[in-house]
Amino acid sequence: EARQYIIDDSDKGMFKVHRSVLVQPEILTQERKKIFDRCWLYVGHVSEVKQPGDFKTRNVGGRPIIFTRGSDGEVRAFLNSCTHRGTLVCRERQGNAKSFQCFYHAWTFNNCGELVAVPGQDAYGQNFDKRELGLRSVPRFDHYKGFYFLSFDKSAVSLDEYLAGAKEYLDLIVDQSPTGELQIIQGTQEYDMLGNWKLLSENSFDDYHVAPTHITYLEYLKDSGVDVSMPKGLLMPKHGFGKSLGNGHAMIENETYRGRPIARWMPMYGEEAKEEIAQIRRELTQRLGEQRAMRVAETNRNLLIFPNLVINDGSSVTVRTYFPVTEKHMKITAWAIGPTDESPRARARRLDSFLTFYGPGGFATPDDVEALEVVQQGIATWQELEWSDLSRGMMKKDEDQLNTDELHLRTFWRRWNELMTKE
Ligand code: FES
Ligand code: FE
Repeated sequence: EARQYIIDDSDKGMFKVHRSVLVQPEILTQERKKIFDRCWLYVGHVSEVKQPGDFKTRNVGGRPIIFTRGSDGEVRAFLNSCTHRGTLVCRERQGNAKSFQCFYHAWTFNNCGELVAVPGQDAYGQNFDKRELGLRSVPRFDHYKGFYFLSFDKSAVSLDEYLAGAKEYLDLIVDQSPTGELQIIQGTQEYDMLGNWKLLSENSFDDYHVAPTHITYLEYLKDSGVDVSMPKGLLMPKHGFGKSLGNGHAMIENETYRGRPIARWMPMYGEEAKEEIAQIRRELTQRLGEQRAMRVAETNRNLLIFPNLVINDGSSVTVRTYFPVTEKHMKITAWAIGPTDESPRARARRLDSFLTFYGPGGFATPDDVEALEVVQQGIATWQELEWSDLSRGMMKKDEDQLNTDELHLRTFWRRWNELMTKE
């Protein structure tokens, strides 16, 4: 039966989302086909497979993947599934390997994917051709400035076209590094949430919730000597704006009040950090010019790359991706990323900031987990209370959108709806 998922009526300033889409297993079945099998999905960063043989195994959109650099130097993504009977070929989370040997019947694949050894091969007879049984590469695989993505859809548009306006915001992150090189900082944070995956796409750049939900963090900043007073009429300490970036991607940008370990001093870094931060700032200005250096150093961004990659470029830079296990359970992975050649002290500030705020034990994430899990519990009433309102700021022009409006959430949902209702 055809059902309307969203009501999008600009004339009336009305935008509503039907709550069944956060609750029903049939919706997830459709999402797997129409979203996760079609879009470009984040796999990993080039710094994670630096040396030939380096590999990471991870789940991308619900499928096990091996992300690896072959001995020939090429970075690839293989389905982590033996061509014999389907076993996970690699059961380690990470490492460096010349080959992957399946543990079930011991077929061996080299790190470029070729099947190189099959025990008792002769018994298969003449027609058995090892060349046809190499590890299967994902249908599409590409990167933008070291951020690798895959698509399970052979006919997907190019990654470049897909990323659209989001590239500008990836560039701003890359610009933090004097060499243009970034590095995922060792250590992966993983956690689960009993909520629908789309709630996290919304939450990751919803600034409207920050003051009430994260009040403990704001108190902590205040106690550390940071000015977090709300100017009249604003719900955030500083002004910001929201923007659609095309293809469902969107972001919010704020003037910072949290500080930037890379380029802006904060009281909690201590007096001794002042000189080093001033030096980082001088380097930015020299390399990028005054204006862009200001933007890199003085503003925060929360970027959503549709459907499930969030890059929070704030007091640290966090890369976060997640996938649905069921319609009310998601798994989340997060990393901190920073310039490759950062000083140990700057790196320590960055990590401290990451763990204090975005990490699963920090100020923000437990609050958000709690918020989203109780949303999920509340919308069990969806048959009686059917619609959620996301019309905040809808009557404004795009250029007048505040970070606390819901333009970016509507961007996500419009794209979601477009893909879900397409034949
Ligand atoms: Fe991998 Fe048999 S399933 S060798
Ligand atoms: Fe939050």
